[in-house]
Amino acid sequence: MTISTTMVVGAGQMGGGIAQVCAAAGRKVYLNDVTMDILNKRLAFIESLLTKDVAKERITEEQKAATMANLIPVTDLDAGAECDLVVEAIVENMDAKASTFTRLDRICPESAILASNTSSLPITEIAAFTSRPEQVIGMHFMNPVPVMKLVEMIRGLATSEQTTEIIRQEAIDLGKTPVLVRDVPGFVSNRVLQMLINEAIFCVSEGVASIEDIDTVMTLGMNHPMGPLRLADFIGLDTELSILEVMFEGYGDPKYRPCPLLRQYVKAGWLGKKSGRGFYTYN
Ligand code: CAA
Ligand code: NAD
Repeated sequence: MTISTTMVVGAGQMGGGIAQVCAAAGRKVYLNDVTMDILNKRLAFIESLLTKDVAKERITEEQKAATMANLIPVTDLDAGAECDLVVEAIVENMDAKASTFTRLDRICPESAILASNTSSLPITEIAAFTSRPEQVIGMHFMNPVPVMKLVEMIRGLATSEQTTEIIRQEAIDLGKTPVLVRDVPGFVSNRVLQMLINEAIFCVSEGVASIEDIDTVMTLGMNHPMGPLRLADFIGLDTELSILEVMFEGYGDPKYRPCPLLRQYVKAGWLGKKSGRGFYTYN
């Protein structure tokens, strides 16, 4: 099976990036979100990235136009009926994902693969909301999607070999390097990364050093491209908290407990870059 038509559900920072790379690879892409306003803003952002790529002579004007023409904004899921693959990238919340997968299962062709870009939620549980658990898989892209080369593929208990191979090939066709991991809370990426970020937040709350200095230790001292606090802002502090809670509950191990300061920031609406304020402030 080859993928020619994809739907991306959720046009946030991740869904927008996933839609962009799929469209650039020649797929017809339906991009879904709850309002046309969100979709239009996301398409304008994608266009601005492609305009920069044209200016840097990485792509031609024609390639930019072809990518934009492949992107079709939609506010309902009905176009799923035409799709070979759906990649869900809505908010990191099991109830929301369950309702989306239940609806997609009713709308999409029997042969379609339903993938989730979840950062930490169990693929096996998401798959159980459908009648096709063998065709449900984690397709975990990294942020920012157009730049980062990894796709972490997560195989649920029932995910078939055939589904895994189709998604492995699709990730390669999108210019990414796939790795296969088992369905454990946080997978590999967030099981490792979130320990670093959570520990950095504990350092802030204990007043060990300033926010800037904690980040500088990791950028200049360890050559990380971003310090953990700036990275947390970039990922989104609501997403951060959800991931840590999934791991804390999933492993029952106190080492995954979210720092209370992170909870406080999220309750204050300080969600990082997307809300204009997190550990840093943004225009
Ligand atoms: N969307 C698309 N492209 C973006 C972007 C975005 N949101 N942000 C930056 N870029 C592009 C820039 O346009 C620029 O492209 P050009 O080279 O074509 O100009 C390129 O990235 C480099 O950007 P900058 O020069 O502005 O800044 P930088 O050199 O600091 O790089 C960065 C930015 C790529 C984000 C880099 O800081 C980085 O790699 N940071 C770490 C990212 C990371 O760890 N991601 C994984 C997060 S964890 C995750 O995704 C999983 C999860 O479940 C939470
Ligand atoms: P985001 O908050 O930027 O975007 C989420 C989008 O989903 C919003 O535009 C929202 O309007 C939309 N949405 C919410 N409910 C919806 C529904 N029922 N139907 C359609 N659209 C809906 O979030 P994000 O950072 O793009 O994260 C999305 C998913 O990707 C989450 O599962 C997250 O854990 C995962 N993820 C995030 C990162 C990251 O660095 N932020 C990295 C990898 C994976």
